[in-house]
Amino acid sequence: PAVAVIVVAAGSGTRLGGDIPKAFREVAGVPILEHALRGVFGMRREAQVIVVAPEAFRGDAELILGHAAGDAAEYASVVTGGATRQASVAAGIAVLADSVRIVLVHDAARALTPSTQFDDVVDSVAAGGRGIVPGLAVADTIKRVDDEERIVETVDRDELRAMQTPQGFPRHALAQGYADAEEEYTDDAALFAATGGSVAVIPGDARAFKITTPWDLNRAEHLLRPEGG
Ligand code: C5P
Repeated sequence: PAVAVIVVAAGSGTRLGGDIPKAFREVAGVPILEHALRGVFGMRREAQVIVVAPEAFRGDAELILGHAAGDAAEYASVVTGGATRQASVAAGIAVLADSVRIVLVHDAARALTPSTQFDDVVDSVAAGGRGIVPGLAVADTIKRVDDEERIVETVDRDELRAMQTPQGFPRHALAQGYADAEEEYTDDAALFAATGGSVAVIPGDARAFKITTPWDLNRAEHLLRPEGG
C-alpha cells in the first residue's frame, strides 16, 4: 500500500483511572482500540495498519486488530511501544512497508474519529506534499497566566486551532524528522516543523476528541448509544 496508518495505543492512560491501559478499556462493550480501528479500516484507500501496543498487551492488540481488519489483515501488524508517545511512533515508523509514501499517525484514544477524516488527511498530504493536521477552532477565550495564576494576556483565539489526529506526512520527510529529532515534542506536527517540514491545518471533526478523562469516556458512551446520544 502507498498509505500507512500508525495507531499509537501504548500509553498507560492514568488520567482515566482503572488498571488497564486506556486503549484496552471498553466503551459500549468494545475496546477503545477497536473503535479506533473501525475508523481506520473504513478508509477509501487500502493502507498498511500498524498498531503500537504496550508489551504486555500485544496479544490483546493482535486479537483486536484481527477482528477489525477482516479481509485487510495482510497489511496489519502490532509492534511494542516505548516510554513516550514519540518513542511509540518511532517503533511504528521502523516497520513501514517499502511501498508506503504517506504516513498517518493516529491516537487510539481518538476512538470515534470518522473515516472521512483519515481520507481528507491523505488527500491533502497527496495534494500538497507537506504535513497536514486536522484542527478545530477554539470556542473558549484563552488567557495566558503567570506562575501565580495572574492573567498576563488574552490570546487572540482566531489564531488558535486545537490539534487532532490523524496527522499525515510524506513518508521520507517524517522518517528523516524522527531520525533528526533530539528532544521530545508534544505531537508529530511539532517534531516535523522543528526539523524543517511545513505543516498546514485542515478542518477537524468534533467526534475526533481524545478520550482522556472519565468524563470523556462517558461522552463516548453516549455518542455510541443506538439512538445516537
Ligand atoms: O496520553 P495521551 O492521551 O496524550 O496519549 C495519546 C496517544 O498516544 C494515546 O493513544 C496513547 O496510547 C499513545 N501513547 C503511546 N505510547 C506512549 C504514550 C502514549 O502509544 N508511551
